[in-house]
Amino acid sequence: AQYIAVMGALEQEIDLLLGEMEKQKKIQIGGIDFYKGKINGKKVVVLKAGVGKVNASYSTAVLTQNFGIDALIFTGVAGGLHPESLPGDIIIGDRLFQHDFGKFDQEGFEVTTYRELTGAHQTDLFIPSDSILVFKSKQAAQQVAFNALSGRNPNVFTGLIATGDMFVSSPEKAQWLFGEYGALAAEMEGAAVGHICRTLDIPFVVIRSCSDNANHDARVNFEQFVGPASINSSRLVLSILEDW
Ligand code: ADE
Repeated sequence: AQYIAVMGALEQEIDLLLGEMEKQKKIQIGGIDFYKGKINGKKVVVLKAGVGKVNASYSTAVLTQNFGIDALIFTGVAGGLHPESLPGDIIIGDRLFQHDFGKFDQEGFEVTTYRELTGAHQTDLFIPSDSILVFKSKQAAQQVAFNALSGRNPNVFTGLIATGDMFVSSPEKAQWLFGEYGALAAEMEGAAVGHICRTLDIPFVVIRSCSDNANHDARVNFEQFVGPASINSSRLVLSILEDW
């Protein structure tokens, strides 16, 4: 077997995984630090991609062109969009899209497909994750003891993730993403990673834990919950690797 890649955007999002890694070896390629080793006996490469779609795309490109990757798991935090989601909840992304790729911005709130706008070979607006990895993620989630950050055990949702290059902290935008598209989480990397993985036929899934609700409190909530929510997402990844 080749590598299972685990990617996060921030240091905090990969900390726990690096702590669990045996025979860790760091190599730097193209300005990115790659940590090779074993987690739960599985051969993995872990990296910090940086924030946003450009960083995510670049990191995914360097990763895939320098390592043999059997599967890619993205782990990290997100803004919860479901009205009932609370910090700590888990979203398993079974589809992703770029909410800021399109014709209009905030006011118009209109997203379009790559094909429509660019005539490109790729892709529909919605990028599906690998169905087997989604299944494995759901199974693994049942075995995890998550941090309860909001006075109840975290809910585990499976569904659409909205990716864009801005931190969402507006209830209108959050409601638009949920109401118009059914998106359950807003984050800043998933669809970019997914787009490249689809192009290269690499199975991928995006796992997120909510640090905030993408509303006016999002900044403050994010600061408070980025650590413990990152741990929830990482625990799910550890559980997936255990069952692999
Ligand atoms: N990551 C965590 N919270 C987020 C938010 N509200 N918007 C975008 N990315 C996020």
